Amino acid sequence: GVFPSFQQNLVQWYKEHKRELPWRLSQDPYRVWVSEIMLQQTRVDTVIPYYERFMREFPSMEDLAEAEEDRLLKVWEGLGYYSRVRNLQSAVREVVEEYASQVPRTRKQVESLKGVGPYTAGAILSIAYDLPEPAVDGNVMRVLSRVFCIEADIAKPKTRKIHEEILYELIDKQDPSSFNQGLMELGALICTPTSPGCLLCPVREQCQAYEMGRQGDLPIKSKK
Ligand code: ADE
Repeated sequence: GVFPSFQQNLVQWYKEHKRELPWRLSQDPYRVWVSEIMLQQTRVDTVIPYYERFMREFPSMEDLAEAEEDRLLKVWEGLGYYSRVRNLQSAVREVVEEYASQVPRTRKQVESLKGVGPYTAGAILSIAYDLPEPAVDGNVMRVLSRVFCIEADIAKPKTRKIHEEILYELIDKQDPSSFNQGLMELGALICTPTSPGCLLCPVREQCQAYEMGRQGDLPIKSKK
């Protein structure tokens, strides 16, 4: 059509405005995996130096598989949630031993790895392998809730599945990596929890919440 699509607007904006983050320098699935585990409970600015040190200390899955626990915990010290790095090491050992050091390429296989849930699996598969798999976290649900005026409570576990179903249809099949990272980046930089920057938004014309002036009321999030 003559008008750019939602996917085109998002992917083009991502390519022009993305932050240069160290885990965006390569599509190596191990590097993507480590970054996503660190980013699960820790902010981007905090993660950056930990990520760089971790990748220097354990540049390959074999290095991490063989690492002593005290060295592992030392490098993770300050990030907290130490089960994350213990689970990461056991999952990496499984990949080294059961998959000849190749991170598998199906959602079922990746989700079976310790510490890898639906969000992290989708992030690895889309960012490293360019597979059209959704990666739904809180930021992505906030963006989609606004774009489609979705009223489902994002605090409810079932709501993630609703967003995944929509994304299987919506995801850019040409560039799943930029599309998913574009949603994350839009949520981080523009479509923020309070006072979203709609005037700078690349998909404003396709946003139902903006059209109805409801961006301040969405997403709906009950407190637990
Ligand atoms: N938060 C979660 N995953 C991220 C990523 N790959 N880049 C930036 N922020 C993120």
